[in-house]
Amino acid sequence: MRPKVPDHVQEKIEKIFPKEKSLTIARAPGRINLIGEHTDYNKGLVLPASIDSYLYFAIRPIEGDQIILHALDREETKSIPCDGLQVSGIAWLDYIQGLLVEFQKLGVTLRAFECCITSEVPIGAGVSSSAALDCAALLALNTFFETELDAWDLVHMSNRSNNNFLGIKSGILDQFASIFGTENHLLFMDCASLVYKKIPIAESEFTWLLINTNVNHSHLSSAYNDRVNECQSALASIQKMHPNIEHLSEVQSVNQISNIQFENLNCKNRAEYIIEENARVREFIQALKQEDFTKCGKLLYQCHQGLSKKYEVSCNELDFLVDVFKEDTSVLGSRMMGGGFGGCTLNLVHKDAMSRVQEKAQEAYKMEFGIDAACIPVRIGQGAQLMI
Ligand code: GLA
Repeated sequence: MRPKVPDHVQEKIEKIFPKEKSLTIARAPGRINLIGEHTDYNKGLVLPASIDSYLYFAIRPIEGDQIILHALDREETKSIPCDGLQVSGIAWLDYIQGLLVEFQKLGVTLRAFECCITSEVPIGAGVSSSAALDCAALLALNTFFETELDAWDLVHMSNRSNNNFLGIKSGILDQFASIFGTENHLLFMDCASLVYKKIPIAESEFTWLLINTNVNHSHLSSAYNDRVNECQSALASIQKMHPNIEHLSEVQSVNQISNIQFENLNCKNRAEYIIEENARVREFIQALKQEDFTKCGKLLYQCHQGLSKKYEVSCNELDFLVDVFKEDTSVLGSRMMGGGFGGCTLNLVHKDAMSRVQEKAQEAYKMEFGIDAACIPVRIGQGAQLMI
C-alpha cells in the first residue's frame, strides 16, 4: 500500500502545483549505519537502516524544452534546458542533473518537467540527505520516463551519478539503505556480493540516539576521495605479495599484511582500519544475536577509535561528544557516523536515561564549543516509496 502524503508536504506542493492531475510523488529516507564505516567502497560489511525522516520529490510534465526545479525549503528555483546539463556547483541541482545524465545514458531523451523537493532529513548531519534526494528523485523519474528500472538499478544509477557527475568516489551504502530500508529492520550487507539480510530489531531497554555536532569541517568530498585513493594504494601494495586479493576486505587479519611495504604510514593505517572494522561488524552481529548490548557498545567505541586515529576522518567536536560518555554507564557506546569531519555521533543509550543523556551532551558541548548540538532519537522507517 502506498503511504499517504503528509498534510504539511501536500500543502507545500500544492502551492507550486495547484490542482495538478498528472503528478507523481515519491519519498525516500535518510539512513543510519550502526557499524561498518568506510567499508562499502572496500567491498566490506555494512549494517545500515533507513530512518523515519523523508525527502519528498514531486514531478509533473510541462510544455517546452526546460526542466524547472523548485527546492522548496531553500526557496530556490532553477531552470535548465533539456539538452544542456552541466555541473553548476549547486549541490542539490547537481545531484539531480547527475541522475538525468544517467537516464540519458540508458537512451532516454529528456523532456520538459517541473519538480519540487521538500525534506525532513537533516542536511550535513551524516544521515545522507543526498541519498534521500537521489532515491526519491530516481523513483519519481523512473515513473515519469517509464523506464521500469528495478531497485538495484536505482542504487547503481545513484552511485554512478555520484562517482561520475559529482566526482565523489563513494560506495553504495547510502542508496542501498534508502531504497531497501524496512521498518524496524537493520540491513546487513556484504558489499562484495551485494547479498544482504534483514535483521529484525528486538525490543530492548536500549535505544539509539544521534547527536549532531552541527559542524562540517574540510571539503568532505576531497578528504573522502583521499581515503578512497589511499585504500586503493594500500590494496596495490598488498597485491604485489598476494595477487589473488581483489579488495582490502578480503584480507583476513592485520597479521597477514605485517610484511607489506606500503607507500606510506597512512596507507598502512587505512588498510588496518578496514580489516579491523570488518571484524567488528561480524562481532557486532554476533553480539546482537545474543542481545549482548554491552559488547555492541564496546565495539562502537572501538570503531570510533579506529575512525579517529587510523582512518582519520573524525574531528574535535565528534571526539568530544564520544568522550563525554565514556564514564557514563547509561551510554553503552558512541561513535561518529557516516563520511566524517562533522555530522552526527551515534549512541547506544539506556531508554530510561534518554533525556538526561541529551541534556548532558548539549550542555557539555555548548560549554566546550559554544555551539548547540541537536539530539535526534532514531526511529527505523520504511525505505523509498512512490506515493502518488
Ligand atoms: C558516505 C558515503 C558512503 C560511505 C560512508 C562511510 O556516507 O556516501 O558510501 O562510504 O560515507 O561509511
